[in-house]
Amino acid sequence: MNLSLTEIEVEDFKNFAGRHVLRVGDLAPGLHFVRGVNLANPRLGPNGVGKSTLVADAPCWCLTGKTVKGRPTTAVRPWRSKKQPRVALTLACDGAERVVVRGPRATDLTLDGATVGQGDVDRLVGLDHALLTQSVVFGQGRPLFFDLAPRDKMQLLSDAMGLERWERRADAAAKRARRLQDALAGVRGELAGLETARGHAQEALEEARGASERWAGERAQKVEGLAHAARAARARADSLEVRRGEASVAADKAGLAAKLLRPDVEAAQEALGKLRQEARDHERQIQQLSDQLTDNMAQERTFAETGTCPTCGQTVGKKDADKHIRRLRARGDELEGQCDAAGKEAVARNKKISALTSTTQRDEAALAKLEDQLCAAADEQRSLDRELAAARAEAAAAERARTDAEEETNPHREASAAARARLREIKAETAEKDDRATKLEASAERAQFWARGFRDIRLMVIDDLLADLQETTAAMLEDLGLGEWEVRYTTERETGAGTTQRALHVEVTSPTSGEPQHWEDWSGGEGQRLRVAGALALSEVLLAHAGVGVDFRVLDEPTRGLSREGVRDLCDMLAAYAEEAGLRLFFVDHHANEGAVFASSITVVCDKSGARIEEG
Ligand SMILES: Nc1ncnc2c1ncn2[C@@H]1O[C@H](COP(=O)(O)OP(=O)(O)O)[C@@H](O)[C@H]1O
Ligand SMILES: [Mg+2]
Repeated sequence: MNLSLTEIEVEDFKNFAGRHVLRVGDLAPGLHFVRGVNLANPRLGPNGVGKSTLVADAPCWCLTGKTVKGRPTTAVRPWRSKKQPRVALTLACDGAERVVVRGPRATDLTLDGATVGQGDVDRLVGLDHALLTQSVVFGQGRPLFFDLAPRDKMQLLSDAMGLERWERRADAAAKRARRLQDALAGVRGELAGLETARGHAQEALEEARGASERWAGERAQKVEGLAHAARAARARADSLEVRRGEASVAADKAGLAAKLLRPDVEAAQEALGKLRQEARDHERQIQQLSDQLTDNMAQERTFAETGTCPTCGQTVGKKDADKHIRRLRARGDELEGQCDAAGKEAVARNKKISALTSTTQRDEAALAKLEDQLCAAADEQRSLDRELAAARAEAAAAERARTDAEEETNPHREASAAARARLREIKAETAEKDDRATKLEASAERAQFWARGFRDIRLMVIDDLLADLQETTAAMLEDLGLGEWEVRYTTERETGAGTTQRALHVEVTSPTSGEPQHWEDWSGGEGQRLRVAGALALSEVLLAHAGVGVDFRVLDEPTRGLSREGVRDLCDMLAAYAEEAGLRLFFVDHHANEGAVFASSITVVCDKSGARIEEG
C-alpha cells in the first residue's frame, strides 16, 4: 500500500482557530522547512506558534486518535473557544483519494464521509500510533531509535514486528510440552502399574490353572472311587439277591412240608384225645365194677357169717342164704370177668395210646422244626431284604455321587477365566496406553520442537530485520554523506540457553577511531546526524515490513545540540535524502534556517486570534 499525503486541514485544533489547509500534495518532494512566527507573544520567538500542531499532531491525531505524545482528544480542544476540533487528512491510497476526518468523539471519525471505527482507519493506512511515531512523525523531544536503552530498542522492534507473538507461541508450546511430558509421565506410570498388574494376573492364572488341574485329577479319582463303590455295592446286592432266593426256596420248602405234616399231627392229636377220654371213661367203669365186686364180696361174707340179709338185715334161712351166696358168687365172678376184660381192654388201649403218643410226639417235633426253619428262613429273608435294600441304596448313592461329581463344575475354571479376562483387559488397556504414550511422546516432541522453533523464528525474524536494518542504515549513511561511518546492530543473548534476545546494541565505528564503540559510550560530534540516520533507516525498515509506503516524514526539531553549521549540514543531507527518496520531509525547527536546500518554507504564524499558515 502506498500512502501519499495530499492535504492537512485543521479546524479549531489546539491553537488553530477556524479552518486552515496545508496542501501537501502541491509540494515537491524534498525538505520542507516548517518555521514559526509568534505575533501574539513575540518574546517566545518562533516557539509555541503551532508548527508541531500542524505537521505532527494533526496527522497523528487524525489517523490514531492520539497526539504524538500519546495525549487524547481533550488535549487538542481549542482553549479559547467552545468549538469542536476537527482534522481532515486527504490521502492518496494506491492512487485512490481517501479522506479521513476526525472530531472529538469516537463517533466523529469518518472515512470518505461515512462514519467508521478506528479499526477501519488502521486497516486502511496500516500504521498504528507506535509505528507512525517511529517511522513517519518523529515527535519533538521524543527519543529517536538510537536514544532508547538497548532493551527498549529491542522492545520497539519486538512491538513493531509483533515478535511477542512468537515468544508467546514459544511459551505456549513449552507449556504444552511440559503438560504433555507430565501427561506422558502419568501414562508411563500407569503403564508400569499395568505391567505389575499383568504379572499378578499371570500368576493368578497359573495358580488357577494348577488348582484346576489338581481339582480335575482329584475329581477323576473321586469319580473312579465312586464308580468302584457302586460296582461293589451292586455285586454285593447281586449276591444278596441269590442268597435271598435261596432263603426263599428254603422257606417255601419248609412251609410246604409243614403244610403237609400239620393235618396228620392234628388228626393224631385228635385221635389221641379221644383215646384218652375213652381211657378215662373206662377207668371210671372199672372202678364201678371193682366197687360192685367189693360190695358183692362184703355181702357174701355177711351172708356167710351172719346169715342176715345184707340189704334188709333179716335173718335168711340157709337155703336162701346159699342161694343168695351162689348168686352173689356168680355175680362176683361175672364182675371179676368183666373187670378182667376191662383191664385187658385198658391195657390194649394204653398200648395204642402210648404208640400214638410217640408217633404224634415225633411228628409234632418235626412240625415244630419245620416251623422253626420257616421262621428262620423268613427272618433271613427279612434281614437279606434289609441288607439288599442297603446295598442297592449304597450303589444308587455311589452312582448319584459319581454323576454329581461328574457334573460338578471346576471351581477354579472361573478363577482362571477371570484371570484370562483380566489379562485380556490389561493387554487392551496397555495397548491403548502405549498408543497414547506414543502419541503423547510425538506431541511432546512436536511441542518441544515448536517451543524452540518459535524462538528460532523470532531469532530469525530479528536476524532478518537486523540484517535489513544494517543494510538500510549503511545506505542511509551513504545518502546522508556519512559513507565512511559504520553502524552495526548487535543483539545480546540474555538467557543461559541463548534463546531470547532482549537487548539491541548499536555500535558505531567512526572513520577516525576504526574501533566499534557502543552508541551509549560514544560521544562523537556526529551523534545527532547518526541519530537521524538511524531513525530514518529504522523508519524505512519498519514501513517496508509493515508493507506501507508513506511519502512524507516529519522531523520535529531534530537539531538539538547542533551548531548552526551542524544544522545546515544536516539539512543538506536530509534534503538530498528526501529528494532521492521522493519524500516530503517536513523539517520543523525554531531556528531561522533559511537556505537554498529547502524545497519550500511553511510558516505558521500565531497572533491573538490563533495560528494560521503562510506558505512560500
Ligand atoms: N489544546 C490546546 N488548545 C490551544 N492551544 C494549545 C493546546 N495545546 C497546546 N496549545 C498551545 O498551542 C501552541 C502551539 O503549540 P506547538 O504546536 O507545540 O508549538 P510549536 O510551534 O512550538 O511547535 C502552544 O502555544 C501551546 O501552548
Ligand atoms: Mg513544536
